[in-house]
Amino acid sequence: MGERTLTEAKSDKDPKVVQGMFARIAGRYDLANRVLSGGVDTRWRRRVVKRAGGDLSGQRAVDVACGTGDLAVVLDRAGADVLGVDFTFEMLEHAPAKLRPGVWVQGDALAMPVSSGSADVVTMAFGLRNVVDRRQCFRELLRITKPGGKVLILEFGMPDRDLFGRVYRSYLTHVLPRIGGALSGDRAAYRYLDSTVQEWPDAHQLSQEMLEDGFASVDHERLFRGVACLHVAVAPSEV
Ligand SMILES: C[S@@+](CC[C@H](N)C(=O)[O-])C[C@H]1O[C@@H](n2cnc3c(N)ncnc32)[C@H](O)[C@@H]1O
Repeated sequence: MGERTLTEAKSDKDPKVVQGMFARIAGRYDLANRVLSGGVDTRWRRRVVKRAGGDLSGQRAVDVACGTGDLAVVLDRAGADVLGVDFTFEMLEHAPAKLRPGVWVQGDALAMPVSSGSADVVTMAFGLRNVVDRRQCFRELLRITKPGGKVLILEFGMPDRDLFGRVYRSYLTHVLPRIGGALSGDRAAYRYLDSTVQEWPDAHQLSQEMLEDGFASVDHERLFRGVACLHVAVAPSEV
C-alpha cells in the first residue's frame, strides 16, 4: 500500500486502512517497538499496571487494542484475569505465544464483545490514536468498566519545546520513519505514527473530553518528559 492511502487514513482514520497497516507490520512490531523506544515502552506498560493498583489478584482486566499482547502479559503477571481485544487478526496471532490462548478476542474498540460493567480495570496502550471516533471509544471503555473501576490510557504525547523537545520532534519526523521502515518494511506506517502523534490533542483536552463523556475523575502523568502520557480515569460509583 502506498503512502497516499496512509495519508488518507491519517485524516479519516479509515479502520480498514488502519487494520491493513497493522496487519503488514505485525511480524516486526515488537522488534520495532523495542529498538525505536530503546526499551522504554516496556517500562511504560509496567507503570500502567502499577497505577492500576499493582496487585490485581482476582480482578478482571480488559486490554483494549492489545496488539501482540505485551500489556496483557504484564496485567496477567500482576494477577489479573485478562482479556485482550484487538481488531487486527495478524497482531493477535502473535499473542498466544506470550500468554495462553483463549484470552484473546478479535473485536472493535468502539463496540467490544464484552459485557457491560464487567471489568475492574480497562487499559489501552497506543490504541486510542488510531480509532475513528475517540469519544465513542471513551464511552465504550466506560460501558465495560464496573462502577468505581479504573480506565488507563497510555498514548504518545509531546514534550515541551525545549532542547529535548526539539530533538525529539526531529527524531519523530526524520529518524523514526527511516528506522521503523527498515525494521518493519513499511516506512509509511511510521510516517503515520509521526503525523498522528504531532496532531494529537494535549493531555488536558483529553481529560476534559473524558470527564464530559462520563468519567468521575481523570488525572494524567507525563512519562519520559512528555513523550508518552498516561491518563488514569475512574468510572462513577453506583449511587
Ligand atoms: C500501536 S498498536 C498497540 C498495541 C499494544 N497495545 C501495545 O501496547 O503494543 C495499536 C493497536 O490498536 C489496534 N486498533 C486500532 N484501532 C482499533 C479498533 N478500532 N479496535 C480494536 N483495535 C484497534 C491495532 O490493530 C493495533 O494492534
